[in-house]
Amino acid sequence: MPRFESLLECIGNTPEVRLRNTFSEEDGLSEGTRLYIKCERFNPGGSIKDRIGLQMIEDAEASGELVPGVSEIVEVTSGNMGIGLAIAAAFKGYPCTFIIPGYYSRERWTTMAAYGAGVEITPPELGVPGALDRLALFRRERPNAWFANQFDNPANPKAHSDGTAEEVVRDFPEGIDYLIAGAGTGGHLSALARKLKKVWPALKVYYALPSVSRFYESFLPTAAAGAAGGGGEGGEKDEEEEEEERGMRLIDVDLTVPSGEHRLHTLQGLNPGPFRPLNMEFENLDAFVYVTQEEAYEYARRATRRDGLFCGASTGAVLAAVAKVLPEIPAGSTVLAFNYDLGDRYLSVPDLFTDENVRILKSIEDPILPPPNRHQPKVIIGRPSQVPNDAVRPRKSENEADH
Ligand SMILES: Cc1ncc(COP(=O)(O)O)c(C=O)c1O
Repeated sequence: MPRFESLLECIGNTPEVRLRNTFSEEDGLSEGTRLYIKCERFNPGGSIKDRIGLQMIEDAEASGELVPGVSEIVEVTSGNMGIGLAIAAAFKGYPCTFIIPGYYSRERWTTMAAYGAGVEITPPELGVPGALDRLALFRRERPNAWFANQFDNPANPKAHSDGTAEEVVRDFPEGIDYLIAGAGTGGHLSALARKLKKVWPALKVYYALPSVSRFYESFLPTAAAGAAGGGGEGGEKDEEEEEEERGMRLIDVDLTVPSGEHRLHTLQGLNPGPFRPLNMEFENLDAFVYVTQEEAYEYARRATRRDGLFCGASTGAVLAAVAKVLPEIPAGSTVLAFNYDLGDRYLSVPDLFTDENVRILKSIEDPILPPPNRHQPKVIIGRPSQVPNDAVRPRKSENEADH
């Protein structure tokens, strides 16, 4: 292992690890097919977002948008992006505030707060739009706030094109046949699909997404034309005809969810919807593989218990998508999937991991008291766009805490 001069140098260069036990012949795994997973959990902040946190900050410094000693950083995040930004920001001395919709796991916001960031949790029922309302107020009132904007910032796919994709090309001199991955902003999927297809034109790229989010179908080239022209006047089409029209295979689509609709789901980090980030491209994708919560959770548990890869719901979703296409993958293929972050970040998620194997042995019969909660957030009642933003202040270290 080389020596590093700062933690920032440890970002990227993550290992691709072969999963030997998660799938078996029963799952359709053919002789000689090798499944690797790129383990982004090995980044210092435990997720794929460390890469773009550093890249976005350095590009903004280079363009003069972010000025040391003057600017502060604000971002809307499901958690990992905040942690990724917080690492580079801690090193470089920028205060940060992260706005997170209230349905993401507690581990995410407690970790961001541990890095010294201000965290604002917006009402879950208002979704991402509620967080964006809050962001708008924040930016109006704090003119030195730089909005990282992972969804639209070109530094996001750049980090993956220059880093993640180059590592794959370097580590697989024999090439890969299938890339199977998910998307939040679309940054890594779009960049890898674009770059790797140039290197390996026969590569197939499959996109794993939540079965309750069919929102992106409306952006596929001919779907809009089909919807505008058809509109229910006769001409019943079957699934295959519809797919052909769209130019996209839809695998395991849930027809009870209308095409174009986005519903809230539990696969944290995947399809935030209902909006299309600029960093989400569809041109180089070969299929959408729809995955339910149950399937994603099942494969997260399998990877954890069979290969020792402790991972969360989005990695589970990617592995569930692998399971769906394995039977059609020719023998001897090389498949690359993605692991996004650490399973520890999902311990509070209901129904994912269980405590059923835990036994508590007590010497006396009295109730076990829960440990005191160190993470008691301030609760502020009001609309996200109206609560004054100095209700929560970013701080750099414990010593500067205002209580
Ligand atoms: C938890 C988590 N973080 C990050 C990502 C990567 O998202 P993107 O590169 O699309 O922003 C995913 C992806 O699918 C994810 O599940």
